[in-house]
Amino acid sequence: MGNTASDSRLFDQIADEVYQHGICVLRNALPETLSAALAAEVRGLPEHRFSRAGIGRQADHQNIEAIRRDEICWIDSSTAAGQAWLVWADGLKQALNRRLFLGLFSFESHYAHYCPGDYYKVHLDAFRGQQNRVLTVVTYLNPDWSDSDGGELLVYPEKGRTPLLKVQPEYGTVVIFLSEEFPHEVLPTMTDRYSIAGWYRINSSDSNRVDPES
Ligand code: OGA
Ligand code: MN
Repeated sequence: MGNTASDSRLFDQIADEVYQHGICVLRNALPETLSAALAAEVRGLPEHRFSRAGIGRQADHQNIEAIRRDEICWIDSSTAAGQAWLVWADGLKQALNRRLFLGLFSFESHYAHYCPGDYYKVHLDAFRGQQNRVLTVVTYLNPDWSDSDGGELLVYPEKGRTPLLKVQPEYGTVVIFLSEEFPHEVLPTMTDRYSIAGWYRINSSDSNRVDPES
């Protein structure tokens, strides 16, 4: 199944906003059937499919838990929901490459489950000079989120401590930003919180190394 006309209008809007601001937040943006399939799939995954996420190479278990406490499950095309999500992400990639010449090459993404009390402290998804993650995509799978549930995504300017944006992890909301430019964090959640985080990478191959295979 390919992308629809309304997907391509959405992709154009995302391209415009990323071009202008480097970031874009859109409510009710993910197609409803796709959100529904992903929300059902993530809630049905058995516990053993989730694992504690790592951060970099050196961080030990305790350090990791101080920074992030979510559990993740990588998404592939072995299920209908996973496949539909990857088709959508590929359509967005093509639109962004067409409009912005970003040269996005590959996409990787995972479900994340934050249990009550879980958080993810301020971090960047990519570091300048390491040509890996270029663009971050986050989407939320939580119907009827309320203010008292916490779990907001705070996005900061490159330098500075006053958040630019506070986003509730509400079903259908999509957040896209340049991975190297926006520090962000997930505030402690009061209730189970489901999201997808994904990253587009450019193909930074040289004689010794071919990403993303390495
Ligand atoms: C991440 C991340 C944000 C969110 O996984 O890197 O920042 O709101 N996730 O789930
Ligand atoms: Mn992040």
